[in-house]
Amino acid sequence: MVAGGSGQVARALVGAAPSEAADVVALGRPHLDLTDPASVEAAVRAAAPDIVINAAAYTAVDQAETDEAGAHALNAAGAGLLAAAAARAGAPILHLSTDYVFSGDKAAPYTERDEPAPTGAYGRSKLAGEQAVAGANPRHAIFRTAWVYSPFGKNFAKTMLQVAETRDELSVVHDQVGNPTSAQDIARSLWQVAAQAAASPAALVPGIYHMTSAGEASWAEFAEEIFRVSAACGGPAARVRRITTPQYPTPALRPANSRLDCARLAAQFGIILPHWRASTQTCVEDLLKIKGWTS
Ligand SMILES: NC(=O)c1ccc[n+]([C@@H]2O[C@H](COP(=O)([O-])OP(=O)(O)OC[C@H]3O[C@@H](n4cnc5c(N)ncnc54)[C@H](OP(=O)(O)O)[C@@H]3O)[C@@H](O)[C@H]2O)c1
Repeated sequence: MVAGGSGQVARALVGAAPSEAADVVALGRPHLDLTDPASVEAAVRAAAPDIVINAAAYTAVDQAETDEAGAHALNAAGAGLLAAAAARAGAPILHLSTDYVFSGDKAAPYTERDEPAPTGAYGRSKLAGEQAVAGANPRHAIFRTAWVYSPFGKNFAKTMLQVAETRDELSVVHDQVGNPTSAQDIARSLWQVAAQAAASPAALVPGIYHMTSAGEASWAEFAEEIFRVSAACGGPAARVRRITTPQYPTPALRPANSRLDCARLAAQFGIILPHWRASTQTCVEDLLKIKGWTS
């Protein structure tokens, strides 16, 4: 059972479901509302899942600054409700979290041993969600990912292509670095974890794992790569003007360093996500085939 209906990772999970998960059910609102305990209990009971993957979240980072209660209701309380319902159904839960639990002050990539110190409401709600999930279901694994893009939903790659249709030059922040990560790579990796957990329950060692693409980039470098691939395929492209964070103020502070060290994921599950440039190429090519940035 996947929690999250129309979301990027939820849709990618459905698309990437292996044959053993042919009966995967992905539930968003109105069938599953994580802010409603009765809805969560009924949905999990009806699905009787072997495993639950939580890809539902309040992801509007700036909006959360003025709606912290709303972000907490879904990302913290809702995640805990789902984890508890999964536990009652005898199912483990794979839960997604974020790089925004960190302040961004560290000079090197963050490991799971680093102390979280979120600077914004979204990060605080996701950190509380990690704790709620871990407290509600002993059979859990929490995967922190970052800078998610895909052919689905709203994301940076689609926005860049959309804006380049009408503009020759775009200003993009160059002093925030992270790991652009394809929702499809996340989905394939989560299914690999699910398969390992199904084969041997002990394989699902509870805890937090960082799960991002290999390689790192600034937002400006990510935009440049999107436009390089798009231009090569005859799609929209713009020049990127590299700017600093103060030149692009947003309601929520973003970490300057969002990079996550994924060594634990590799050591425990043998999973290494592809390099972000390779997956960006695939995603942009897919978007160009369907003119997907217009939807
Ligand atoms: N996007 C990023 O850059 C990013 C970065 C780091 C971590 N993450 C984490 O990765 C996970 C997936 O993110 P995403 O980008 O796929 O998110 P997304 O595209 O914004 O999708 C969010 C999902 O949440 C569901 N949802 C919203 N309110 C709900 C509610 N009350 N009850 C049940 N479901 C609800 C939506 O389904 P319906 O609309 O169908 O109800 C949708 O499927 C999240 O945990 C997020 O925090 C994302």
